[in-house]
Amino acid sequence: MSARASLLGIADLGADDVGRILDTAGRFGQVMDRDIKKVPTLRGRTVVNLFLEPSTRTSTSFELAAKRLSADVLSIKGTGTSMDKGETLKDTILTLEAYDPDVFVIRHPQVGACRLADGYTDASVVNAGDGTGEHPSQALLDLYTVQREVGPIKGLHVAIVGDVLHSRVARSGIRAFTLMGAKVTVVAPPTLVPRHLAEALGAEVSSDIRDIADADIVYVLRMQLERMGAGGFVPSLDEYARMYQVDHARLRPGQRVMHAGPVNRGVEISGALVDDPETLIEAQATNGVVVRMAVLYDVATGAAGGSAQGDAALEAA
Ligand code: CP
Repeated sequence: MSARASLLGIADLGADDVGRILDTAGRFGQVMDRDIKKVPTLRGRTVVNLFLEPSTRTSTSFELAAKRLSADVLSIKGTGTSMDKGETLKDTILTLEAYDPDVFVIRHPQVGACRLADGYTDASVVNAGDGTGEHPSQALLDLYTVQREVGPIKGLHVAIVGDVLHSRVARSGIRAFTLMGAKVTVVAPPTLVPRHLAEALGAEVSSDIRDIADADIVYVLRMQLERMGAGGFVPSLDEYARMYQVDHARLRPGQRVMHAGPVNRGVEISGALVDDPETLIEAQATNGVVVRMAVLYDVATGAAGGSAQGDAALEAA
């Protein structure tokens, strides 16, 4: 965490930070089991959700998380802002500063945009996905989901399969799983793996789909067709599916399957597997709300610094 408690990437976190956020998420999870799922924790605080790239899960779960914490929420999406008329990210942030926000949650197509925005505002900034950069709240909800549904992360083997090159989910996921003591293997065609990056982050690299056999968790990545331009990364989607699609035939009993969504059914994952209730895909979506409540709480109350204010606010929940 930076001194001002923004969440810009898993790269900025230590295992203690991750443990604290997952613990807080667990406590908010207990609140979600009540009839009334709202707590006053962030009453009087303002959260601005600025989504300048498409999103369903992240945008809705951050909005619901902020509302369940009783914050005032402004949600601004993609087209329809003055950025369409040429306004810069800096001027957009400075304009929204007029409403005295406590937290900006930002999704942006450019790597580093959230870190840039963090320099323009005194509010906390949460990276909700910056191009191919990082998606830290996704990685945190993935860890939370594995802890709840599978068990302790330390010692698990996670295979991350598919389009690593274009995936912020993979960059944050490799960092988060290795930070918490899992072994990570990335499995993909050589054209879709930045091998030096994956190895630098502590992952093993394979181009053989059979290497998912040893994994406890098979984490399937979306083929990010919108980032592939003229293509050339794979001969064709049919061939990719034939070589790398994760389906029931390629899994052994007991392996758990994850996917951050949205999915391309029949490309990186079979439709039958998406619909299989044994996968963790639905749990990932469900857990997004409490983990994002924990993230908002962490940055907005100074819990990252272990402040008494933060501790008191969580007790009030
Ligand atoms: N997993 C994820 O980031 O999904 P959205 O793009 O729908 O937010």
